[in-house]
Amino acid sequence: MSSLLKEDIRTVKERDPAATSTLNVVVNYPGLHAVWGHRVNHWLWVRGLRGIARWSSQVGRFFTGIEIHPGATIGNRFFIDHGMGVVIGETTVIHDDVTLYQGVTLGGTGKEKGKRHPTLESCVVVGVGATVLGDITIGRGSKVGGGAVVIRDVPPNCTVVGIPGRVVVREGRRVETVDLHHEDLPDPVVEMFRQLQRRIDVLESRVSQEEAAIREQSAEESRGNESNEGPDASPGEPKPQGTE
Ligand SMILES: CC(C)(COP(=O)(O)OP(=O)(O)OC[C@H]1O[C@@H](n2cnc3c(N)ncnc32)[C@H](O)[C@@H]1OP(=O)(O)O)[C@@H](O)C(=O)NCCC(=O)NCCS
Repeated sequence: MSSLLKEDIRTVKERDPAATSTLNVVVNYPGLHAVWGHRVNHWLWVRGLRGIARWSSQVGRFFTGIEIHPGATIGNRFFIDHGMGVVIGETTVIHDDVTLYQGVTLGGTGKEKGKRHPTLESCVVVGVGATVLGDITIGRGSKVGGGAVVIRDVPPNCTVVGIPGRVVVREGRRVETVDLHHEDLPDPVVEMFRQLQRRIDVLESRVSQEEAAIREQSAEESRGNESNEGPDASPGEPKPQGTE
């Protein structure tokens, strides 16, 4: 137990240059208090003491400004810097060595039941005010930029920014505006054939309309000729004048 507490204090010192002494860390870091509170609350939660666990987590929220649902599963060396406004939902899973800044929400989209909160793999950093929603996974070593809203899985070792979150760096390399996923590349040859097929369809339908109109016209002409000639008229014989 004491080694776990020492590790938590060491984690704060390693990740925040402003953390100068152990006393400073123990007294002034609400993120640390929230993590310690959560350990107790989660212990109660998994033993079925859910009411008291929820109540205790709300007391912790009152003092730290950080709301961690007691059901959330959190690994070692978890660090919340500043902390105010952080919300972590019930089915969130946080692996080891994760860092969150103030105002981060790890929430549900409001549509699902069961596992409905994110999974953050190890060494993930979520920037100030970022929102990560739904049962998605932020891959190992990825960074979520401040203010981003992430609603889809993020592969490992990526940086995701903006609303909705888009990957701007993958494996240390900048991703251009067009995300060069192999499966998403446009195929110009296929697109040209599709356009040709569309033109052929249009032309075929025009030709068949013209053919139908010509057939109709010649049928009408032949009917007109038959009625002009009459049943008794011999072919080529002119009709007598003034008989109508
Ligand atoms: C995202 C972040 C981690 C930087 O990651 P990175 O992998 O080094 O990425 P880069 O700095 O190379 O930025 C890549 C692109 O994303 C943009 N970008 C970076 N952070 C961004 C953000 N939060 N929102 C929108 N765009 C952002 C950059 O402008 C750059 O765009 P460009 O390619 O058009 O120039 C960092 O900017 C960040 O947001 N950190 C949060 C830290 C924090 O919360 N601190 C609080 C202390 S109290």
